[in-house]
Amino acid sequence: MSAMKTRVFTAGKNGIDEQEMAVAAEIIRAGGLVAFPTETVYGLGGDATNPDASRKIYEAKGRPSDNPLIVHIENFGQLEEIVAEVPKEARVLAEKFWPGPLTMILNKNEKIPYETTGGLDTVAIRMPNHPVAQAFLKESGCMIAAPSANTSGRPSPTRASHVWEDLQGRIDVILDGGEVGCIGIESTIVDLTEEVPVILRPGFITLEMLSEVLGTVKMDPGIVDENSKKPPKAPGMRYRHYAPKAELTLVEGQENQVVSAINGYAEKLISSGKKVGIIATEETKDRYPEGMVVSIGSRNDEAQVARHLYQVLRQFDEWDVDAIYSESFPTAGVGQAIMNRLLKAAGHKKITV
Ligand code: TXA
Ligand code: MG
Repeated sequence: MSAMKTRVFTAGKNGIDEQEMAVAAEIIRAGGLVAFPTETVYGLGGDATNPDASRKIYEAKGRPSDNPLIVHIENFGQLEEIVAEVPKEARVLAEKFWPGPLTMILNKNEKIPYETTGGLDTVAIRMPNHPVAQAFLKESGCMIAAPSANTSGRPSPTRASHVWEDLQGRIDVILDGGEVGCIGIESTIVDLTEEVPVILRPGFITLEMLSEVLGTVKMDPGIVDENSKKPPKAPGMRYRHYAPKAELTLVEGQENQVVSAINGYAEKLISSGKKVGIIATEETKDRYPEGMVVSIGSRNDEAQVARHLYQVLRQFDEWDVDAIYSESFPTAGVGQAIMNRLLKAAGHKKITV
């Protein structure tokens, strides 16, 4: 792709400057690409109804074009415009969780091109809860197809500087809204096209929260068990991504044993001249005498751990470490999403001590 000049529009205290917002909206309407903040991660946006815009998104990210995009909307009427029918569950979930970090899979109609859905007859839809994302959707009048704004294979971006690192020269504009909202990992994806709703990607909205309003909800077996006979239904969950450059290994077990095991692995590598990164917690960070230790947050605050996860992985890339060891987390609630991302980043390398 020929290099283009990427412009960065920085939010002041009233959000993005009105004129700059108008410029970004015009660029989207004309088929260009604009990255924008959401409450989960930064998205790389293009007009969801424009097949060329979707093609450009895949090209800019270096993403396989069979991996469908999420369509971002600003009001429920837009959902009705692009789906074959609106199941009752979709209304109930929208009422309860939108705007917010939940994506629904529904059967699409002809308004959304196959370029946007990776050839599928279903479409992923989300109404984000971030003032800059909402203002941008409103100003452009477009439904905006947006995957996470990282180069394919890198950790998702939680700051505009991450987007710049990955995509400068490949997209038209970055709307810099500072650090993302309070979530920091990608939205929960729930598939409403099957008899029973199925979670295709765990996130901040948990199975328990969805079950409370929908009754029975299943977890896609392909994401719980890597040896499952059925691969994950969401194409994006099949790839090893969210990956740092260094090899990441998760260590699981009772806290004291995990700490001493990680210290053992680290010591060995460090004595052979390697740089080792350690993902610790507030509770354990002072118990690693060697290595480059980063606290991902407190074990008593899962949301904080989720929010810091991608930033921490990118930090180790910057420090150019040779190996990373990480503590593990319980898989209840948001822990399910945290462990799902960490396991994927580790290519499922986990040691139980
Ligand atoms: O929080 C988020 O969801 C962020 C922000 C920007 O909204 N977006 C995001 O998009 O994470 P992306 O493209 O990185 O992940 C979308 C996931 C992929 O795993 C993709 O395979 C899946 O959603 N997906 C999209 N459409 C689908 C469909 N029709 N059926 C099954 N999976 C789908
Ligand atoms: Mg992504």
